[in-house]
Amino acid sequence: MKSTSLYIDTPPPSMQAASSESIKTFYDEATEDYTFWSTDFNMHFGYFKKGRTNLFLRDTMLNEMNRQVLLRLNLSNQKQLIADLGCGMGGTMRYLMKQQPKLSTLGVTLSDFQVREGNKLLKDTQGLILKENYLDTSISNSAMDGVVAMESFCHTGHNYKTLQEAYRILKKGKRLVITDAFLKKDPALLCLGSKFSYKGLCKGWSLDGLGVIDQVKENLERIGFNKVTIEDVSMRVAPSVLHVPFAIPLFLLKQTLKGKRIKKQSWNNLKASFYALLSGLHLQDFGYYIITAEK
Ligand SMILES: C[S@@+](CC[C@H](N)C(=O)[O-])C[C@H]1O[C@@H](n2cnc3c(N)ncnc32)[C@H](O)[C@@H]1O
Repeated sequence: MKSTSLYIDTPPPSMQAASSESIKTFYDEATEDYTFWSTDFNMHFGYFKKGRTNLFLRDTMLNEMNRQVLLRLNLSNQKQLIADLGCGMGGTMRYLMKQQPKLSTLGVTLSDFQVREGNKLLKDTQGLILKENYLDTSISNSAMDGVVAMESFCHTGHNYKTLQEAYRILKKGKRLVITDAFLKKDPALLCLGSKFSYKGLCKGWSLDGLGVIDQVKENLERIGFNKVTIEDVSMRVAPSVLHVPFAIPLFLLKQTLKGKRIKKQSWNNLKASFYALLSGLHLQDFGYYIITAEK
């Protein structure tokens, strides 16, 4: 795939547009590192729910986030097909199919590594990962009974075109669920500390930028989505974000002790994770949201 800017209609809210090549390189090199983050290969933050999750067992919170997405998809018990746009290693796909045995899932990612290794993990399931750009998939119009996007649309700044593609592939009456970090205000209005961490976050994780939550809601409605629900779940996500300063350095230390070279993208991942932690301290500017929207 040639290196093209993923910025389409609206100016990217970060300082730089991420290229598809830089996203692919990042995930081809850094995906393996996520084994330390989640044995189930969840490449997202978690959702703390008293009684269901354990603050010290990260995967309980990461899988609870998958469960929260499943609840909001509002699926029936019939055979259904879900798309995961920016699916990583298919951790969410596997979780959803385990909970709903009649479900089939289709994931798309830019990373060859994730296609190859993710499909191995999906062997003997009704799940498949394709190497496609979620801005322009090969999925037919109105084919999906649900679409999920967990910490993936940030790579295109949650822009209009990205949301439009999700709308195109959904059946009428079915839902899109997005879980991600968003800005609470225009990037130009961020305080100095937030600007600093935002810049580092976007650079390290190859993000176009985070969408401004009010603008994203407006765009979803303009595209045609209705019943757009915006939930600020920052406090539920915070406990898993607090794992970052312990989990990542420990992983790098283990790699070093094993005599393994720390790859460039692993350093980028490490730096971006700390900027994410720093951003999380600026709650006036950043928030973590679950967005549910119906076609
Ligand atoms: C942080 S990972 C999240 C993975 C997964 N949603 C999860 O929660 O485990 C972001 C994912 O988005 C994918 N991605 C980013 N930009 C993309 C694009 N334009 N088209 C398809 N996938 C994209 C990456 O390849 C990666 O798989």
